[in-house]
Amino acid sequence: MSAKLSSLRLSKRLDEVRFSDIVQIRNKVMALRAGGEVVHGFHGGEPFFTTPLPVKYGMMQALVEDKTRYAPSSGMEPLREAIAHKLRTFNRMDVNADQVLLTVGGSHGLYAAFQCVLDPGDDALVFSPYWTPIRDLVTGAQGRPLLVPTISARNHGITDALERYATPHTRAIYYNTPQNPNGVVFTRQEAEEVAAFAKKRDLIVIADEAYEDLVYEGEHFSIATLPGMAERTITTYTLSKSFSMTGLRVGYVVACEPWMTGLRKIILYSTNGVSTPTQWAALEAMRMPRKFQAARLEEYRQRRDLLVQGLNELGLECMPPAGAFYVFPKSAKVHKDSRKAVGILLDRAHVATIPGVAFGAQGEGHLRFSYSVPTENIEAGIDALRKYLGHK
Ligand SMILES: Cc1ncc(COP(=O)(O)O)c(C=O)c1O
Repeated sequence: MSAKLSSLRLSKRLDEVRFSDIVQIRNKVMALRAGGEVVHGFHGGEPFFTTPLPVKYGMMQALVEDKTRYAPSSGMEPLREAIAHKLRTFNRMDVNADQVLLTVGGSHGLYAAFQCVLDPGDDALVFSPYWTPIRDLVTGAQGRPLLVPTISARNHGITDALERYATPHTRAIYYNTPQNPNGVVFTRQEAEEVAAFAKKRDLIVIADEAYEDLVYEGEHFSIATLPGMAERTITTYTLSKSFSMTGLRVGYVVACEPWMTGLRKIILYSTNGVSTPTQWAALEAMRMPRKFQAARLEEYRQRRDLLVQGLNELGLECMPPAGAFYVFPKSAKVHKDSRKAVGILLDRAHVATIPGVAFGAQGEGHLRFSYSVPTENIEAGIDALRKYLGHK
């Protein structure tokens, strides 16, 4: 092979970056539906509510008023001010607008955070099961994820678990609460343990609070508010889940120096900021009263309870999750191997779920169901499962 041809390859840092199972499942569901089949979809990861009207009008008005030029790549001043106000009042963070940067969704904030913190060869502790892209965000920064089993860490001690999995190359901890996929909401005491470990080992915490508004049991607690943590925490947020804005692609990060400089660089050279009309839409979202979240939470709670009860009656054992909008039952009733279980349920009951193993080895033996779907879809899905499991 000539020298020229051998250069037709991707950069090495993409070698370990993968695509997830979720895309394949989505494609299979689309193919079934295109063939006229009814599929009970529990595989999604977005709110089923529509985007609030003030948000839509905010964007429309921006377009009509020609607010379509470049905004500052860090985000518009009034929006960063509104976000800082929310962080002070809801999250109890002592921050100002200069510590807030707008991102293209939570994913972009996480990408920027890992790029800022990890050098090639660094390790990052990741509670597992974890949101699938995290592994790839770590490997894409040429780091190595060290998986810490969440449930056993919670049962036997967070500090001991972190001690056990940390290496001399460990530089960061990914801390997601409420968690996707298992709905775990870490307590304040658990946050204190993680924070104490981070300080003792001089680690940076990348805190992902994408589901902060979806907590049914306990309360949401931002780890950056603990003493000595503001300077070693980069917290990422998204408007995707709280305001049904998944397709608008907007979120934000909050941090101190030196992270702010790094995050600004990554944002500048990756996207040069969030689209200007989207930022006006986001400003309307940030101005909505908090009772909007409370009303939605109740809707989610009803769906959670309906799905948890239905699954348990069918032998798909699960606990009611404390947060987010996913249930993570055991797959054994269908098949121990979660990928096989997903294939069986999709082929025979037309029920679409995600294999637990897609969220790391610690998720094997489980299925992820989203209850961010209309109530009647939950009922129809449970019926379809009953018919299949009843005939097994
Ligand atoms: C745990 C977690 N963090 C972050 C995100 C980022 O979402 P987005 O990029 O849509 O804002 C998601 C989306 O599913 C998530 O589940």
